[in-house]
Amino acid sequence: MIFDDNERIVTGDFIGEDADIEVGLRPRQISDYIGQEKVKENLSVYIDAAKQRRESLDHVLLYGPPGLGKTTLAGVIANEMGVNIRITSGPAIEKAGDLAAILTNLSQNDILFIDEIHRMSRTVEEILYPAMEDYALDIIIGKGPSAKSIRLDLPKFTLIGATTRAGLLTAPLRDRFGVLARLELYTNEELKTIIRRSAGILDVEIDDGGAEEIASRSRGTPRIANRLLKRVRDFAQIKYNSIITKDIASESLKKMEIDEKGLDIIDNKMITTMIKSFGGGPVGLDTISATIGEEPNTIEDVYEPYLLQLGFISRTPRGRIVTQAGYEHFGMKKPD
Ligand code: ADE
Repeated sequence: MIFDDNERIVTGDFIGEDADIEVGLRPRQISDYIGQEKVKENLSVYIDAAKQRRESLDHVLLYGPPGLGKTTLAGVIANEMGVNIRITSGPAIEKAGDLAAILTNLSQNDILFIDEIHRMSRTVEEILYPAMEDYALDIIIGKGPSAKSIRLDLPKFTLIGATTRAGLLTAPLRDRFGVLARLELYTNEELKTIIRRSAGILDVEIDDGGAEEIASRSRGTPRIANRLLKRVRDFAQIKYNSIITKDIASESLKKMEIDEKGLDIIDNKMITTMIKSFGGGPVGLDTISATIGEEPNTIEDVYEPYLLQLGFISRTPRGRIVTQAGYEHFGMKKPD
């Protein structure tokens, strides 16, 4: 890999520096959670219904590109249900026993949030099946012919799983979720609202043009918007001694090598390679991956959703192509 995605300022992945701001900015109530209207509307119904029946909420799978607020939404759901949330991730659960320990420590109706649930090992995943379906834990005691399986009852709990793509999950796991919710990239208007809310909490002064400028370069992703806000605040304070305006945001982001659509050098490289080496496509994912030195999964989960939303590339059965708009953005003309 040529670039470490964690060094990209426009990565949707959670990076160390997000911890100090993101956690404090997370909304607690569904009414404070901006955007994802369809998901919120349906979830509100399920939450109210479960509360009325005094039952646990059905298991929920949240999927979509990184940085869209899946963990945040899980926290909101727990708060609205009035239950505890236990947060872990697929790679953090190493052994079946780790998961068994977490499950037996839950209380009635609690939420277990597993981020990157597609990265759980098969043996750990198999513990989840009876846990999700029957609220039971099957434990094998002994070895060989005398081995016995005993069943432990678990409290009724809600599993909220998060992943970048639902297709990454095995079918038996996916089928055990009652609610599948896809989070979409945010519109600039929604991002502007999020930026204004964050600026209010962080006590940063920003005008409408400043919020607009940061929003339009945040790749539809609140985590990136909040990160850029923090960086631009530094420029505004040190270099300009001013509140954040359109010009200051624009100048600061230019210095960070983020273009007016939020593309950085890696996006630039991907599209210009597709144009210069492959005549604009169609190019297969594996070919793009080999040429720019990024994992196919990273390309699909991190770069493509936003480039597709911008309409700079499109997917065809024969591969990816650069569109007219994609050519134009890089100052080139699409051949007939
Ligand atoms: N921070 C991250 N995602 C958010 C959202 N959807 N609404 C408000 N703040 C957020």
